[in-house]
Amino acid sequence: MYSSPLIVTTLNENQTKTGFQIKELKLHKDRVVGKILRKLPQYFPFESRTIDLCKDARSPKYTAFCATDTSCEKVGICLLVMNNSSTAEIWLLAVSPEFHGQGIGTLLMARAENEARNRGRKYMLVRTISPSQNDPNYLRTFSFYKKLSYTFLFESEDIWQGTTCAFLVKKL
Ligand SMILES: CC(C)(COP(=O)(O)OP(=O)(O)OC[C@H]1O[C@@H](n2cnc3c(N)ncnc32)[C@H](O)[C@@H]1OP(=O)(O)O)[C@@H](O)C(=O)NCCC(=O)NCCS
Repeated sequence: MYSSPLIVTTLNENQTKTGFQIKELKLHKDRVVGKILRKLPQYFPFESRTIDLCKDARSPKYTAFCATDTSCEKVGICLLVMNNSSTAEIWLLAVSPEFHGQGIGTLLMARAENEARNRGRKYMLVRTISPSQNDPNYLRTFSFYKKLSYTFLFESEDIWQGTTCAFLVKKL
């Protein structure tokens, strides 16, 4: 009797069931940051800020992870920085708008958290626009971090000119 072959699919560490892959990006980090941020004007409206983040991406201080889809298109980016011996920080996280809500942000955060943990950090810090600003886009971003078990610490008006910044933290 014919029996169909058993198809075993194995996923390596960086592959996901959704077909998106997360990998460390070593080259052209600034280009990827620029390309993705310019697709998100409602979140990153200031070109000068985008240029600053592209500059940061070129610095060895920041580790970059990118998400690629099945056609190797880069659809998400995360910049991670080690603040001190106990704390790491998500310096930038952005996913191309057409891919929102498909789990890519969650995967990038998991990768960054793993990296920070492996490098001996105990806490991960993130900054985002505070819910007190009532920006509907950033309210979703805030709920994204809450969903990933980040705790709101405090907000400050002194960090970003004209915008209230919220700090959140997670024990790794
Ligand atoms: C915030 C962001 C990185 C999340 O990435 P993502 O791949 O869309 O998120 P995931 O699919 O892993 O998680 C989905 C959850 O994120 C939240 N979320 C935030 N923004 C969202 C969006 N635009 N679309 C869908 N879900 C969003 C929701 O809580 C959602 O949970 P739900 O499915 O139960 O509603 C992404 O939406 C993004 O790039 N936003 C614009 C830039 C930004 O805010 N960056 C962070 C700056 S501090």
